[in-house]
Amino acid sequence: MSDIVRVALLGGGTVGSQVARLLTDSAADLQERVGAPLELVAVAVRDTNKPRAGIPSEVLTDDPFAVVSRDDIDIVVEVMGGLEPTRELLETALSNGASVISANKALLSEYGAGLHEIAHKNGVDLFYEAAVAGAIPLLRPLRESLAGDRVNKVLGIVNGTTNYILTKMGEGQDYAEVLAEAQRLGYAEADPTADVEGHDSAAKAAILATLAFHSSVTLGDVYCQGISSVTLRDVQAAADLGYVIKLLAVAERTPDGEGIVTRVHPALVPKAHPLASVHDAFNAVFVEAESAGQMMFYGRGAGGEPTASAVLGDLVTAARNRRAGAAGQAQSVYAGLTPRPIGEATTRYLVSLDVADQPGVLAQIATAFGQHGVSIQTVRQDTDEQGGATLLIGTHAAQEAHLAATVEELHDLDSVNEVVSVMRVEGAE
Ligand code: NAP
Ligand code: HSE
Repeated sequence: MSDIVRVALLGGGTVGSQVARLLTDSAADLQERVGAPLELVAVAVRDTNKPRAGIPSEVLTDDPFAVVSRDDIDIVVEVMGGLEPTRELLETALSNGASVISANKALLSEYGAGLHEIAHKNGVDLFYEAAVAGAIPLLRPLRESLAGDRVNKVLGIVNGTTNYILTKMGEGQDYAEVLAEAQRLGYAEADPTADVEGHDSAAKAAILATLAFHSSVTLGDVYCQGISSVTLRDVQAAADLGYVIKLLAVAERTPDGEGIVTRVHPALVPKAHPLASVHDAFNAVFVEAESAGQMMFYGRGAGGEPTASAVLGDLVTAARNRRAGAAGQAQSVYAGLTPRPIGEATTRYLVSLDVADQPGVLAQIATAFGQHGVSIQTVRQDTDEQGGATLLIGTHAAQEAHLAATVEELHDLDSVNEVVSVMRVEGAE
């Protein structure tokens, strides 16, 4: 084996350019840590004429297939994004005996199992710490540090762009303006719909659930609702009630212990909860494990340089493994828990109703909740001068299907003028 570890990058954009820069700037330290120099031998991009600070022009190419077909490359770092031709490129790289490091959650949440199989068959590594929560070491702790524990729940903020938008909306700024700023700062996906509609968080939730529960969870198994319909008014109304709105990713075991519900949606979080203090593009993830108890992982969830840090961590591990002749590990999905629909999720809700302010109305409404087994925890009524009232009903933890049936019945009650909103509440006592 050569003493040099040869590295190729697929992508030289926001993340790739920072990986290339750090490979040069930290070359001496990386060499000490790996025990051999890391040499950047190719960077595949779409446009080789674009000026790219820190990437020597002689390694640039617009032919990624030629890169992954080379037999002198030890590690391929994929930071170009997209599903195709990226999947084919990574399959080729792994089949050719290169280890692969990827930041591509969209790809891994769909095709992770197949890629792991090829990596395992070829005795090479497939790592993707950067794909979830940017710089935060999260996947390795789940895969390795918690390998002896039993995880029951993972809950957190895993998208920097939407957290940035919601934070700035909380300061009164306009949605579209803030989204453009998040794009400029390099937080957003190439198509920011993936961020604002929750798909990026859902892909990350699938990866987290797979690792946490040793069971296969793919993007299609994740309930997904984004923040595009959250208005400045919603954010302000939540603040008045003592909450902030956060886009959360949640994965948890069902009460029978045999299933997992994985969901992404905006939720009300009490202002005193640690997740409420996670601002801007920062991410934070709570993990609840049987023996370890609750842990919180917090840090920068997006941006070129923080993400490049996670990529380099994987790069050092993969390079060390290659030098030690260590074989890539198979994906651990032995537990085989079944992905379950959102109807089986259990959480609390805050239901806002526009009602007639008349005798018996509250009783009718309470009956609708009671009949579906949804227990009311708090009721607040604000009356207006026209004889109407807004009822805010907070529930104890209830099954989503039961809450949905309650809401359907509320729609049919004559005394209910409108079901104004139904919000999930996470982290409340
Ligand atoms: P980006 O700035 O758009 O960079 C993409 C790079 O890939 C560009 O250099 C582009 O070339 C190149 N590329 C795209 N398609 C290609 C193709 N078919 N052939 C050759 N080159 C191609 O994206 P990014 O923000 O760095 O994100 C890259 C990946 O990292 C994505 O999977 C993303 O989800 C993930 N990620 C991003 C962040 C973040 O904060 N930005 C954080 C974590 C993970 P040109 O430069 O010529 O256009
Ligand atoms: N677009 C992603 C985000 C990048 O905003 O979190 C990090 O995965």
